[in-house]
Amino acid sequence: MPSFQTVRGMRDLLAEEAEVLNFVMSKARETAKLYGYREVITPVVEPYELLSAKAGEEIRSRMFTFKDLGNRTVALRPEFTASIARLATGALKNEPKPLRTLAVGSVYRYDEPQRGRYREFYQSDYEIVGVSNPEADAEIILLTDRLMRAVGLRNYAFKVGHIGVIRGILSQENVDEKTQNAILQLMDKREFEKAFQLVKSVACLSTLRGLLTLKSDNAFDTVGRLRKHVEGYPNASASVEDLQKILKIVTEHQCPIATVEPTFSRGLEYYTGMIFEVYIPELDIALGGGGRYDRLIEAFGGEPTPATGVAHGLDRIVMAMRMQKTTPTTQNKKRVAVIPAKEEVKGEALRISQMLREAGVSVELEVMGRKMNKALEDADRRRIDFAVIVGERELEQGSVVLRDLAKREQAVVTISNLAKRINPEY
Ligand code: HAM
Repeated sequence: MPSFQTVRGMRDLLAEEAEVLNFVMSKARETAKLYGYREVITPVVEPYELLSAKAGEEIRSRMFTFKDLGNRTVALRPEFTASIARLATGALKNEPKPLRTLAVGSVYRYDEPQRGRYREFYQSDYEIVGVSNPEADAEIILLTDRLMRAVGLRNYAFKVGHIGVIRGILSQENVDEKTQNAILQLMDKREFEKAFQLVKSVACLSTLRGLLTLKSDNAFDTVGRLRKHVEGYPNASASVEDLQKILKIVTEHQCPIATVEPTFSRGLEYYTGMIFEVYIPELDIALGGGGRYDRLIEAFGGEPTPATGVAHGLDRIVMAMRMQKTTPTTQNKKRVAVIPAKEEVKGEALRISQMLREAGVSVELEVMGRKMNKALEDADRRRIDFAVIVGERELEQGSVVLRDLAKREQAVVTISNLAKRINPEY
């Protein structure tokens, strides 16, 4: 047999990596609780139609699509938003609004594997459905800010834009929706010249080109210049006011805004309003991104329902934590090895292990039948904190030997006091 490897772009996460990822997931869940988002678990496999309908060409062309044995065309989810929109038109249709959901898990995109870009990766996705107010968009940015802080990241900052400004200009200049989508996809890749080539009207072209010159160091200055620039385009102007309101809320809460970019666009096609991404200076790829999508639920056959949301790239957050040397604050749990000194006391060693586990102590029982010195060596190598040596003589007194492997000290301890001796908090 050949020796098997993971499929290209797929990774095994070994214990330490899995621990950090789980830590980030736990922070994502804590953040959701603090903001009233309730977790839902949706399938990894969804109808191709659902996932592809409004995702945009960029994601559509990178989906893992296949026929199942029933000849249905299905795909691995490349994101969660489509699944949540499906729920909003079905099982959660009659839930009181706003509906706030969290989804955490793996998503799949046939991206070219490189640093921070995988074909299977993990997201925490928050959606708030049923509100068009800027407060909802601000909440999505603020909870992202909270998650960044909760995992210990520093110096992160948000890049913000508004799809309504660009669409407002293009619609008023009679650019059809298909061409608008193509323009936005090219803008997402920063291929502005190619994007502009799709625009026929000279007036429209100069307004779009002008957007490139508005960026400044101060978010509100950019918004002011943008406001002037789109005078005469009522929908674009309304979008600028919306953006201003969102920025006002988030900056009042010390949320770090790096830039407002009038030409900022994102790969997904469903966005209609504010969009954003979050970065740290050490990495030029986004740790998370999101925005408003007011027409997706309607496109899936639901009532017209405004919505906004974000997904965080958990693998990239882990990477960012490594770069900033932010070690997760794992619980200070002691690890204990219970080692029977003889075959005859194996049963007793298991009983003591179970008793410690009931008290919340993490116990690894010696099950290999190794001699005492080998078992202790092994515990040392695996950085176990304490060894509990179960010997016949001590057992007769209701005791065991507790050995502190780091300090290389040991004492005879009564079994009933054992958990407290290992950690006084137990
Ligand atoms: P997205 O920007 O496509 O948005 O993905 C969100 C985050 O997932 C990115 O910022 C990045 O951190 C991470 N990510 C994307 N591709 C990869 C990859 N190949 N490898 C590792 N990480 C990756 C969405 O998915 C939208 N559903 C967000 C949203 C929710 N918009 C509204 N609601």
